[in-house]
Amino acid sequence: METQKRDAWSSNFGLVLAATGSAIGLGNLWKFPFITWENNGGAFVIVYLVCILLVGLPIMMAELLIGRRSQKSIVGALRDVAGPAWKFVGGWGVLCGFILLSYYTVIAGWSFFYFWKSLGWTFGGFPADLSTGDLFGAQVGDAWLQFMLSLVFSIATVGVVYFGVQKGIERVAKVLLPVLFGILVLLLVSALGMSGSGEALKFIFEPRFGELEWSGVLEALGHSFFTLSLGMGAMITYGSYISRKQSIVKSAGAIVAFDTLIALVATIIMFSVIFSVAGLSEEVGKSTVGMLFISLPELFYTVMPFGTVLGPLFYVLVALAALTSTISLLEVETSFLIDERGMKRQKAVIVSGAAIFVFTIFAALSFGSTPVLSTMVAFGKTGWFSIADHFVSNWMLPTGGLAVAIAAGWFMTRKATEDELVDGNQPDWFRYGAWRFFIRYVAPVAVLAIILAVILGRDFS
Ligand code: TRP
Repeated sequence: METQKRDAWSSNFGLVLAATGSAIGLGNLWKFPFITWENNGGAFVIVYLVCILLVGLPIMMAELLIGRRSQKSIVGALRDVAGPAWKFVGGWGVLCGFILLSYYTVIAGWSFFYFWKSLGWTFGGFPADLSTGDLFGAQVGDAWLQFMLSLVFSIATVGVVYFGVQKGIERVAKVLLPVLFGILVLLLVSALGMSGSGEALKFIFEPRFGELEWSGVLEALGHSFFTLSLGMGAMITYGSYISRKQSIVKSAGAIVAFDTLIALVATIIMFSVIFSVAGLSEEVGKSTVGMLFISLPELFYTVMPFGTVLGPLFYVLVALAALTSTISLLEVETSFLIDERGMKRQKAVIVSGAAIFVFTIFAALSFGSTPVLSTMVAFGKTGWFSIADHFVSNWMLPTGGLAVAIAAGWFMTRKATEDELVDGNQPDWFRYGAWRFFIRYVAPVAVLAIILAVILGRDFS
């Protein structure tokens, strides 16, 4: 077997862009706005920000440092830094990535459909009698369409990862992320000019602690894992391509800051539009999950300034954001096969992409088109998609995150983690002792609280 030279980022900027691309995704554009809505904004957002800072940021540093120290994909990385039995935790991460990618692709594929539709509306006019709710139902219920949308998205993901870390992932992130920021700025400017923007900002940022329930606190914590791509080794894998010259602390800080900023901006945009239309907030309340695909399409063409141009651009944005996340998920699988099974990258990408796609089909057909898949029930959830998402969000990510915190805080030596974080490039504000306290005590206790809450019956998906 010939050994392949291990890939690496070309620069610190490459890592930050690629990892930021992984973090920014459907979690920011689709999930965060609707859980903020469901939890009544204000206090929820503050608790979420606290979770990101106290739990997400330390674990982000832990994943990146485990990756850089071992220069291996997750199974080998955890085995190297924490001990032989930890390879099972790595395996848990590989499985988690497999399932997450299989269903995430389905929602990502919807962005193609809405891009196509909105292009048609831009040039042909928005039909006055169109019900976007009905359109959504017809779209998700069409088996063939769902299959094709997911297939095209999977091929795009495989196509990028095929070309490797520098020539594939990094190059794509370098182009896509600036485009994504640009589109968001345009949307933000337009949204802030709308009459509802003041009310939206108030809803999002005014702390009203009386309205927040404990379940909302726990949901904020769970989402901070999802949105930062933590808890399944994606950041361990990306960390394994960092060179010693780069500061983990600075990179982690930048990734977390960008991800948080984008989630807030997306939410401001969506709520500004929604609050600008009288009576719409009651309607949105009925299908918060559909905000992105039911409420927004129509609003672009009826109320939003420059909406006819921004509409199609917005769905391009969703597709790009999702793509930089799916490539990181596929890279976890690929690098596992390369490092642990000695496969060539090209073969590893195709093998894992094809295997995952089989399960993507199940998820794609579970929105009404195929009764067995749409009506199956497990963990109190109906349909393959919801069951898979429930299992990953409620069980796999939190347990994986807990394991990473324990590996970095209790199984690695103080010297090993200190060497990685205090590497001469770290920023002035960084205090190693504080990180160690957070990773040993604060993060595990907070995550255990989530897991306990899930065991006691709380649902986070
Ligand atoms: N962070 C991604 C988003 O917000 C989703 C995600 C969760 C993810 N875990 C991941 C992506 C692991 C890549 C790897 O949409």
